[in-house]
Amino acid sequence: MDRPYIFCHMATSLNGKISGPYHGAAGPEPGQLFYHLAFEKNGYYQHQGWLSGRTTTDDNFTFYKKPDLDQNAPQVPAGDFVIPTKFDKYYISIDPHGRLAWQSNELVYQTTHAQVLEVLTGQASNAYKAFLRHKNIPYIISGKDKLDAKLALDKLKNLFHMETVMLGGGGVLNWSFIQQGLCDEISLVLTPAADGSSKTPSLFEAREGLSKATPVSFTLKGVETKGNTVWLRYLVNNTDKQ
Ligand SMILES: NC(=O)c1ccc[n+]([C@@H]2O[C@H](COP(=O)([O-])OP(=O)(O)OC[C@H]3O[C@@H](n4cnc5c(N)ncnc54)[C@H](OP(=O)(O)O)[C@@H]3O)[C@@H](O)[C@H]2O)c1
Repeated sequence: MDRPYIFCHMATSLNGKISGPYHGAAGPEPGQLFYHLAFEKNGYYQHQGWLSGRTTTDDNFTFYKKPDLDQNAPQVPAGDFVIPTKFDKYYISIDPHGRLAWQSNELVYQTTHAQVLEVLTGQASNAYKAFLRHKNIPYIISGKDKLDAKLALDKLKNLFHMETVMLGGGGVLNWSFIQQGLCDEISLVLTPAADGSSKTPSLFEAREGLSKATPVSFTLKGVETKGNTVWLRYLVNNTDKQ
């Protein structure tokens, strides 16, 4: 298996939360730094796509709607659906069961325009794959009953020529990749705010069936500040590339 270099780039509260009322409490600076580092032309990271978990996509782009599926759609050809794109970036959506109600095959995130690419498993229905084909949304199938993340990354490298990919949350997706040795670097934008909520997700979340709570250590690679915001970089010590 061959895979792209993976860096996990996230903004957190001071206590490691990735969503919640703390958002915005420290002004625009942390969000601007976060976007600059990984999405602007002169940013630190240059990548060909960013990975997001299904909940993150529903929260930000598809809003928990149900896709309009044709249960009588003719059988689609087996295997992956790879088509050309005009974009230089992919939004790589981890959607094992095929749940997300995409309205378009393009996604706009601030000034970034990206091609939507779905990562499915054998659990996704024929009707959902037909829906994606109808919308010109490419997909890859990685795993039969559950996600084979290594195979997905191999396909991103070999079918879509991705050399560097951002792991972009949420916490469940991040930790499942780290536990499998599939993350090389952590890039953390530490927002100088907190809200103390115990109900919001954190940077890394173990979930039964997807990951374990096995400890992982990190090696500090860099610390920089911008105003009150801190940017931390760590190498992940359990990566399968070492
Ligand atoms: N601060 C930041 O920088 C930042 C960045 C991104 C997201 N967020 C926030 O994070 C929150 C969501 O995080 P979250 O941890 O709850 O969810 P998440 O990681 O976005 O999504 C979890 C879902 O993704 C799928 N999934 C993830 N890893 C998988 C694996 N290894 N194998 C199979 N399926 C996998 C599953 O989908 P199914 O349930 O369909 O099986 C799982 O339930 C949102 O509030 C979002 O706004 C913050």
